[in-house]
Amino acid sequence: MSEPGGGPVLEVAGLRKVFGDLTAVEDVSFALPPGRSLAIVGESGSGKTTIARMIVGLERATAGTITACGRDRSRPARSAADRRRRGREVQIVFQDPYTSLDPRQSARDAIDEVLRLHHGWPAQRRRARVAELTDLVGLDERQARALPRALSGGQRQRVAIARALAAQPRVLILDESVAALDVSIQAQVLNLLADIRDSTGVSYVLISHDLAVVRQLTDDVIVLRRGRVVERGPTGEVLDQPRHEYTRRLRASVPRPGWKPGRGGLLAAGEDGDQDGR
Ligand SMILES: Nc1ncnc2c1ncn2[C@@H]1O[C@H](COP(=O)(O)OP(=O)(O)O)[C@@H](O)[C@H]1O
Ligand SMILES: [Mg+2]
Repeated sequence: MSEPGGGPVLEVAGLRKVFGDLTAVEDVSFALPPGRSLAIVGESGSGKTTIARMIVGLERATAGTITACGRDRSRPARSAADRRRRGREVQIVFQDPYTSLDPRQSARDAIDEVLRLHHGWPAQRRRARVAELTDLVGLDERQARALPRALSGGQRQRVAIARALAAQPRVLILDESVAALDVSIQAQVLNLLADIRDSTGVSYVLISHDLAVVRQLTDDVIVLRRGRVVERGPTGEVLDQPRHEYTRRLRASVPRPGWKPGRGGLLAAGEDGDQDGR
């Protein structure tokens, strides 16, 4: 599944974002070949989410270009069809899916809506796919019928992942998406994401402070500090032999069992993953 000319599914070049007098992202470039996955790591506030938000069009770049599936998306979409296509090509799952899920919509309806919007399938095919997707992410019948407020954080996160996958995106951005899942569910979701990548060729952009997750799911990594890329390369190499002192410190601050934010960690409180609460 290559792009016209076999190019990357996602390419950003010279990306910059300025908020008032703060430069949140400065001269960030990377290219993501089809089927490969890229991690973006960096301490809290280093610009990771801002990059993700620019890629999906929630934030407009101050400078630079973003190209997905060979098409420029640096400028706002011109039409509803263009917006829809952009949504289909690149999906995102945020850290806290509570805000992105409609409180009046069950998991099942939320997934069905995406299938209708992006694929226009008849009801029977959608029903079968909804069942498949909820099953894939480990939601049972009752959970699939429940409203977001009746679900735990981890269950809501799985709804958000199933919903994103329903669009069959070429690129799925996961912004701390598995951080809040409890350990066994996290392992299940990571395996699921790996399987989906193998079977569909989707590429992930994984934003995570958990370097074990980064190692498991990505081929390449960029290390971000104050909006700039300070190190990049194959994930294993960068994590095993970091060249930059900052990467070494990041690696040393990885949450381990018993790790608490603020105890020598570089990451701010709230990023060490709330537990699932069940
Ligand atoms: N809408 C905004 N307005 C002003 N500043 C922002 C906005 N969004 C993010 N920032 C700032 O940009 C910097 C990068 O934020 P963010 O991309 O969320 O970092 P990360 O995801 O790496 O923690 C932070 O200093 C943050 O406070
Ligand atoms: Mg963030």
